[in-house]
Amino acid sequence: MAATLQSLSEQSLKTGLERPIVGVNIGKTKVVDLEDAVEDYVTSTRALAPYADYLVVNVSSPNTPGLRQLQELDSLRPLLSAVREEADAVTGRHVPLLVKIAPDLADADVQAVAELALDLGLDGIVATNTTIARESLGLRSSEDEITACGAGGLSGRPVRRRSLEVLKMLRQHAGDRLTLISVGGVTTPEDVIERLDAGADLVQGYTAFLYEGPFWAARINRGLKKAARRVRG
Ligand SMILES: Cc1cc2nc3c(=O)[nH]c(=O)nc-3n(C[C@H](O)[C@H](O)[C@H](O)COP(=O)(O)O)c2cc1C
Repeated sequence: MAATLQSLSEQSLKTGLERPIVGVNIGKTKVVDLEDAVEDYVTSTRALAPYADYLVVNVSSPNTPGLRQLQELDSLRPLLSAVREEADAVTGRHVPLLVKIAPDLADADVQAVAELALDLGLDGIVATNTTIARESLGLRSSEDEITACGAGGLSGRPVRRRSLEVLKMLRQHAGDRLTLISVGGVTTPEDVIERLDAGADLVQGYTAFLYEGPFWAARINRGLKKAARRVRG
């Protein structure tokens, strides 16, 4: 992390461009038992918060067994409180803190997490991670092929509809009291516009970046610029 930040700062010195905003996402790995999770997140926070412009607590990766159980309110409240306290204590500043949720949460649970975030004074929510669902996603592969791929999280296009739905729900529930980062199936400039219109403050993409390469974000930005010009006439 320190080396990454150093390299970003050197790049910005060289190019004269500002150092990009660095969001740090923390999550426990499978070698850490669930009952030791809070301690593990606090350890990661202590190590990484000093480098973070904002911090995200990931409790929604389906690929780490048990991780998503931390989204249950009884586990999530003490976890987020501990991370928030540690982040601010170790840095001596307020580190914006967000929680990242799964698209597979029931609507009532999405709203409950939003309530908790507001109650704890969190800064926002990142929605969403990958999905464990396979039904109703419009998948074209055969059932056998899908089963053969295994039980990991599915990203990209198939998660788009639910990710947008969760965003709309969160914005409706939280008004402007939370920063919402929308992620899940965002591929085109039109997708980004759709998320912004639905109340996203920031939009992220992982799968599109993976498939389309490092200039994907620049293409998105050019598309957004074009769209803005069309609107202005
Ligand atoms: C290979 C892979 C690894 C990922 N690793 C993480 C991770 O470590 N932490 C996390 O919060 N999300 C992780 N994600 C989830 C993505 O950040 C993103 O939330 C999700 O893929 C939906 O966005 P997308 O459709 O643009 O990919 C990962 C996704 C993929 C496909």
